Amino acid sequence: MSETDSSSPLPNDVPMREPTDAPRRKPTVAIVFGGRSSEHAVSCATAAGVMQAIDRDVYDVLPIGIAKDGRWVLASGDTGALELSAGHVPEVDGSGAGVMMPQSTTERSLSVLEPGAPPRALAEVDVVFPLLHGPFGEDGTIQGLLELADIRYVGSGVLASAVMMDKHYMKVVFAGHGLPIGPYVVITDREWQRDPVASMDAVASLDWPVFVKPARAGSSMGITKVSSPAGLRAAIEFAREYDPKIIVEAGITGREIECAVLEGRGGAAVRTSEVGEIEIVKGHEFYDFEAKYLAESDVRLSCPARLPDGVADEIRQIAAAAFEAAGCEGLARVDCFYTEHGDVILNEINTMPGFTPLSMYPRMWAASGLGYPELIDELIQLALARRTGLR
Ligand SMILES: Nc1ncnc2c1ncn2[C@@H]1O[C@H](COP(=O)(O)OP(=O)(O)O)[C@@H](O)[C@H]1O
Ligand SMILES: [Mg+2]
Repeated sequence: MSETDSSSPLPNDVPMREPTDAPRRKPTVAIVFGGRSSEHAVSCATAAGVMQAIDRDVYDVLPIGIAKDGRWVLASGDTGALELSAGHVPEVDGSGAGVMMPQSTTERSLSVLEPGAPPRALAEVDVVFPLLHGPFGEDGTIQGLLELADIRYVGSGVLASAVMMDKHYMKVVFAGHGLPIGPYVVITDREWQRDPVASMDAVASLDWPVFVKPARAGSSMGITKVSSPAGLRAAIEFAREYDPKIIVEAGITGREIECAVLEGRGGAAVRTSEVGEIEIVKGHEFYDFEAKYLAESDVRLSCPARLPDGVADEIRQIAAAAFEAAGCEGLARVDCFYTEHGDVILNEINTMPGFTPLSMYPRMWAASGLGYPELIDELIQLALARRTGLR
């Protein structure tokens, strides 16, 4: 696909690849997965799905794993070893050959580092698909690294990734755009260190039950539903194992409805999918980690969700508005509650949502006529067409 963005050139001192740089050979896609966050295994599962489905006639694929200690390694293409199930939690083996990013904006090649040998040039990379969830991946950090190296990548940029990773600032942005959110209280590390009792008193302004969450995590990790003040301290301390910053939200009674959003091509309006619903059938107080990944029969995912007339369109509009408000690029999944009173309340945006063929994001697109391999292709094309730099 050729470059389409010819609007407002950036200042001369911001070096960027010009539109004519668009690759003419088969583009090489580096699939980066694993990572330092608690969602390492989920990221491995997502990478397995993408590596199986990506069209090898169109793209060369370079799998790169990030071990839990942050080491970048050349990964094997063995997708079976990356699948996540109740009996198998995949992990990147950090003992392989190391991988080094280009050291300047004029180099395109990744280098391989092997013990006792000088760095060896690997393939030139045209675009990175950062299939990373959670901190040190979905939060603007790897996006910043890729910006520094001037390498194009799938998904949102630094700011949108960082803000949407943080459930506190996400709400600040939504509220600033007049989008519907529920009541919440933030407990920063400093506030908790200074006066935990005052922090817990602040939570009393919310109705019970509340959801205590790490501000920056995912896959429901560190989240507890708390029904009375008695359980609050333990829930906060548990969430603090994931993030020193905590958000406590009033529990919303409602159906969980999600919408997949794709950036428009060439600056066109964003595209929204049919909306999907997640229902807990048995055994879980909320959509927790086990329900998400290990006990699939406890959950029913349906798309399109059966909703009263006009509600799906309302949710799609809110999802598109949330994507725009956040300045997202590429893709995002917008999660809402639809309450018994007929209100739509935003829960969160995920800038790199679960992306196996069975995950909600691809399923919602499949139900909307865009299959998994085509979706992968679309995301890569959007990324190839998007320059790095201030955008
Ligand atoms: N305020 C809330 N009211 C009711 N349920 C909630 C609330 N916040 C979270 N939940 C439940 O917890 C799940 C995980 O919370 P979420 O904020 O989406 O965290 P994560 O980023 O880990 O997915 C939700 O899918 C929902 O089932
Ligand atoms: Mg969620």
